[in-house]
Amino acid sequence: MENLDTIKARITELKKKITEYNYNYYVLDDPKITDAEFDILFNELRDIENNNNNLITPDSPTQRVGGESNKAFKQVTHKRPMLSLGNAFDEDDLIAFDKRIKDELGINQIAYSAEPKFDGLAVNLRFVDGVLDLAATRGDGNVGEDVTHNIKTIKSIPLKLSDKAPKGVLEVRGEVVMLKKDFFKLNEKQKKINEKIFSNPRNAAAGSLRQLDPAIAASRPLSFYAYSIHCDSHKLDSQLDGLDLLKKLMIPTTNLTKEVSGVSGLINFYEDISKTRDTLPFDIDGVVYKVNSLNLQDELGFVSRAPRWAIAHKFPAEEATTQIEDIDVQVGRTGSITPVARLKPVEVAGVIVTNATLHNEDEMQRKNIHIGDFVVVRRAGDVVPEVVRVVKEKRPKSSRIFSMPSNCPECASKLQKLEGDAVLRCEAGLECPAQRKQGIMHFSSRKAMDIDGLGGKIIDQLINKGLVKHFSDLYNLKLENLLALDRFAEKSAMNLVDAINKSKITTLAKFVYALGIRNVGESTALDLAKHLGSIDSIINSNEEELLSIHDIGPTVADSIVNYFSEEGNIIEIQNLLGNGLILESIDNEVAVTSELQGLIFVLTGTLTSLRRDEAKEMIMRHGGKVVASVSKKTDYLVAGSDAGSKLDKAQSLKVTVIGEEELVKLVNKGSL
Ligand code: IVH
Repeated sequence: MENLDTIKARITELKKKITEYNYNYYVLDDPKITDAEFDILFNELRDIENNNNNLITPDSPTQRVGGESNKAFKQVTHKRPMLSLGNAFDEDDLIAFDKRIKDELGINQIAYSAEPKFDGLAVNLRFVDGVLDLAATRGDGNVGEDVTHNIKTIKSIPLKLSDKAPKGVLEVRGEVVMLKKDFFKLNEKQKKINEKIFSNPRNAAAGSLRQLDPAIAASRPLSFYAYSIHCDSHKLDSQLDGLDLLKKLMIPTTNLTKEVSGVSGLINFYEDISKTRDTLPFDIDGVVYKVNSLNLQDELGFVSRAPRWAIAHKFPAEEATTQIEDIDVQVGRTGSITPVARLKPVEVAGVIVTNATLHNEDEMQRKNIHIGDFVVVRRAGDVVPEVVRVVKEKRPKSSRIFSMPSNCPECASKLQKLEGDAVLRCEAGLECPAQRKQGIMHFSSRKAMDIDGLGGKIIDQLINKGLVKHFSDLYNLKLENLLALDRFAEKSAMNLVDAINKSKITTLAKFVYALGIRNVGESTALDLAKHLGSIDSIINSNEEELLSIHDIGPTVADSIVNYFSEEGNIIEIQNLLGNGLILESIDNEVAVTSELQGLIFVLTGTLTSLRRDEAKEMIMRHGGKVVASVSKKTDYLVAGSDAGSKLDKAQSLKVTVIGEEELVKLVNKGSL
């Protein structure tokens, strides 16, 4: 029989090891042992405790999940109230904030701690003599709810601090969030088991934290980031000292926080964070600036519920509520019919939005959207605004169901829905004026035939006057045709004629892309050109040959074969070539453009719209270079979700971090 002291010593050792390994795994993202090795330690501790029930303490890692399901949350009165923050929305607000502080203190330069504003739920963690003994939500700021049982399931939060931690009561404040990657995984799982889908990581975190059943809470992946610490027995000088102490105590914080000064320092921080926002593992809804010195904070004090020494600089909202005045449909370049909501104008993320896509009929039905409904509209980055959901409680009696038309609104031909396709299509091709206009716009666009100066308004006139029906008609336009159009003078007409002539010398890949074959984008066009080498071989290729090309799947192969089986398309290609088009072959090694010439890229994390090899090929095709690791020479780190150590390194070397959308912008414009 082992003696009690040996058992106790082993328990203490195991707890310490497990706590450290948890920290390495969950906070530093740098596991020191394998999962199996971890399980061995954990199981040993659990077994010893099972044989010695009296030695189980609430700070044991085995006690993260457990306990009975609760009926309700207990109320907790905060020792110090949990305050809110005033908001700043623009530079003027920041100038006023900085000035007020300087005037009040009689100092002309203030050092601030500039931090991300986590978009989650505020909680207060209380440690007594280093042991986590209470976790409470903010509630109304004075009284919150006891969520200790759920907080304990968050593995990045230590249940016991190191022996060197200050004694007595220590309070840590921070936000509980759900990481974006965990949010997506959770929703996948919810979908599979037919459970509620969460609309964003914040709602998912809130729903999980307020779970009465700790077993369910434990299955929900939550994370925690601390932003302040308070402790009577350990005086701190500044906010940033507090963040350092949190790090020493192995309590998760973020390393995005910086010391800045002056209004320009605040604005630069906001702008830098805005740029990396999409690549962060969690959602943020702005930044927070705090006077760094705690003495100065005391001197400034509070007004009503908010400190005078801090302010939140919020990002413009990405969602807004408005009403659908009407719904109509748009015909896309390849005939796809998209329902579009015409909205009462509303400002979303700083831009007035009047239209939002409803995607397709199935989506519209799933969201149960009627004309007249109040809806939440979202606009994120450059993407087209979309209707997210209906505010059901506000549905007016006069609301009406919208049904998709059975004929094309532009050319009246019968719409069709192919098997397995979510969208209705107009199959009239270039006979349909909408498709003709967009087809010609695509044909002349920069990445296709690159006809400089041929915009939508000119194309409209050319079509309306019957001068252009097919692409090839562009090459028969005469100076006098253009001079007869609105707003054309001698010079501009000549420029356009020159641009049209110049476009005759192009590459096979650009020409194939310009044709606008369904499912054939820039990179497929390049694959076709590289593998088949001439327009004749492309026209004559069969499905089998196409499928043997890497990256071409059955859908794309099908579209290509279909396109070239239409006699009209072949005639059009002959007409184009008859107009003197020259299709230069391209050397595989040569860049298609030199937008990224000399730039060095590193890719990290999971990209969502592009595959890793696609991103790499895209960079290379435009003259850039992709290398494996980040160094001072790196120009850009392209970071997807779950980016880890490469992102940290890039940030510490001040390498510009961009997301996929920005990469695409760079390729198109050569700058951001
Ligand atoms: S400081 C008295 N720092 O924002 C200071 N709050 O409007 C109050 N929040 O619910 C909080 N990130 O939970 C602070 N870096 C950060 C924060 C932050 C998010 C939340 C906080 C509170 C709300 C205040």
